[in-house]
Amino acid sequence: MDLLHDLVIKHQQEVIDLRRYFHTYPEVSKKEFNTQRKIMEFLTALSLSPKAIANTGVMAELEGAQPGKRIAIRADIDALELQDECGKPYQSVNQGVCHACGHDGHISMLLGVAKVLTDYREHLAGSIRFLFQPTEERFPGGALSMIEDGALDGVDSILGAHLWQPVPVGTIGIKSGRFMASPDEFSIVIQGRGGHGSMPHQTVDALLTASQIAVALNTVISRNIDPLEQAVLSIGYLHSGDTFNIIPDSAILKGTVRSFEESVRQLIFERIETITKGICEAAGATYKFDKIFGFPPVINEPNCTDAVMRAVKESLGEDKIFVVNPSMGGEDFSYYLEKVPGAFMFVGVGNDTKGIIYPQHHPKYDIDEDALAYGTEVMARAAVHLAATK
Ligand code: NI
Repeated sequence: MDLLHDLVIKHQQEVIDLRRYFHTYPEVSKKEFNTQRKIMEFLTALSLSPKAIANTGVMAELEGAQPGKRIAIRADIDALELQDECGKPYQSVNQGVCHACGHDGHISMLLGVAKVLTDYREHLAGSIRFLFQPTEERFPGGALSMIEDGALDGVDSILGAHLWQPVPVGTIGIKSGRFMASPDEFSIVIQGRGGHGSMPHQTVDALLTASQIAVALNTVISRNIDPLEQAVLSIGYLHSGDTFNIIPDSAILKGTVRSFEESVRQLIFERIETITKGICEAAGATYKFDKIFGFPPVINEPNCTDAVMRAVKESLGEDKIFVVNPSMGGEDFSYYLEKVPGAFMFVGVGNDTKGIIYPQHHPKYDIDEDALAYGTEVMARAAVHLAATK
C-alpha cells in the first residue's frame, strides 16, 4: 500500500486531460496569458492561493502538516513558434504555435504534483513551492525574472524536469554533476573590399576570408581543448555575396558554442577572436566580433540527485534510472541552481512502438502520455524526501 502512488494513479487521467488542453491552446514566450489563467484556476480550486509572478508566471505554496524544508519544483510553460503537425485530436488550434518541446506536459505534471500532495498533506513534512515559469524558450529566459520576483526566497532546494524524447518511457534520465551545457552564440562581420570577379587583385575578398575562418574555427575544439573536456563549436550561418561575378565586400558568420566550464568557454572565445584577427589581417580585411553568453550550465547537486534517484527506484523500479551523458543543449533552470542546490531530470517519453520518435522542436513531436504519471510521481516523491530532510 503506497498512498503517494495511489494518488498519482487516481489523478492520472486528469493530468493527461490537462496536458491535452495546454497542447490545444499553446502560447509563445511572454504571452502565456490563458495558460497562466488556467494554472491559477486549477491551483485556486486546490485552495493554494496562487499568485502571478514574472508577468505571465505563477507561484503557489503548499504547507505540510509537519515542519521541514521548503522545496521548489519548477515547470516551464511556454510553447514554440512552429506549426503543429502531430495529427492528434488535441493538435494546436493556435496557428503557428506548438508545444513541440513538451512544456504542456511540464505544466500538467506540476499541477498533478500539486493535486497529489494536497491530498497527501497530512503526511507532508515541510512545504512545497510550485513555480510555473514563463519564457524558457526565449533568451535570456524567464528564470531570472522569477528569481527577481522572489521565487527562491526561503527555498532550500529545487527540482525540475524536462520530458525528453531520446529517453525511453518508463525511465528517468538523471546524473550528478554536469547535466546540460551553457549555450553561447557569436557573430563575426567581415569587411573587405568588393569588386569584379575578373579583377580579384583589386579586391579584399570577404567571402574567401569568411570561408577560411569557418574552416579554421573547426580546429578550436580539436586542437585547443583538452580531449577529455566536453565542448562544441558549430557554425550555422555564413552569408556573403549576391551574384556570380561580383566579389562581395562583406560576409557574416554566426555560430554556437557549448561548454560546461568557464575557463573552457573563455578559451574558446579567445581562440575564435585570435583566429579571426589573424586571417583578417593576412587578407587585409577588418572584422567585428560579437559574443552573446547564454545560460550557465546545468550542474546537478549530489544530494538532490540522490533524492531523485531514490524516488525513481521507489516509484518505477530499481532499473529505471536511465544512464545519460550530459546534454549539449541549454536550459535556464541553471539560474536557479546558481542560487540553491537542486537537480534537473529527463522524463522519458520516447516509445518506438507507439510511433513516438520525433525529437524536441519537431512539428510532429508528441509524447507517450504514460510518462506524465511517472514524472508526476517521481517529482512528488523526490520533493517529499527532500522536504523531510533534517
Ligand atoms: Ni524545452
